[in-house]
Amino acid sequence: FLRALTGQDLAGERVLITAGPTREPLDPARFLSNRSSGKMGYALARTAYRRGAEVHLISGPVALPCPPGVERVSVQTAREMHAAVFQLAEKASIIVKAAAVADFRPAVEEREKVKKDKAGLSLQLSRNPDILYELGRNRKEGQVLVGFAAESSNLQAEGRKKLATKNLDLIAVNNINSDTTGFECDTNQILLIDRERDVLLPMTGKEQTADMIWDRVVDLLGKRRDK
Ligand code: CTP
Ligand code: CA
Repeated sequence: FLRALTGQDLAGERVLITAGPTREPLDPARFLSNRSSGKMGYALARTAYRRGAEVHLISGPVALPCPPGVERVSVQTAREMHAAVFQLAEKASIIVKAAAVADFRPAVEEREKVKKDKAGLSLQLSRNPDILYELGRNRKEGQVLVGFAAESSNLQAEGRKKLATKNLDLIAVNNINSDTTGFECDTNQILLIDRERDVLLPMTGKEQTADMIWDRVVDLLGKRRDK
């Protein structure tokens, strides 16, 4: 109660957040990636620190400064992110996976630049590890696990499916088929799904959205402790 009153309702929590895209190299000049700007993950890191948490941020390549008070580890590929996450996961009381991890990487990384003299070129891809799925499978007692989902349709059903298969407490579903939510936007509207209910958050800035996600996490922590 006192913690809530002073705005320090995440005091004592060790929070691990991933943010941004990953980059999967093809050759020394090129990579596969996606449109994530990292803004949502960085807003979550900034607000968690403000609310009293110890915050570690594992970030793909983004054009954002590290928020004050936050410990950042920078990574490029999904496999690097996987390694960095599992180094810190065990000590975290709350993990939020806001990163847009590339699902595939080029099956081979060419050491020399690929030249254009071929008539056609096709790319063989390999699956990257699903970091969040592995976190859900190895989840330690009492740890709160929050995922994101990028969907272009069926937000509710797809979100609920990911909540279950990845063994999450909460999932924030983004509509990526919109100019005002999801990738590269300053505003966001999220469908927040937990095991009991779905709540469509108001369309607002990513900082306010981050605070609403933390409000829900604080609720879940409270329920867990009252049990
Ligand atoms: N995620 C992850 N590792 C991956 C892929 C995704 O940790 N290799 C995490 C993301 O950080 C996000 C959640 O899983 O928190 C959902 O990501 P999303 O791309 O929406 O779902 P996928 O499970 O990858 O399924 P798909 O892309 O086919 O919809
Ligand atoms: Ca994916």
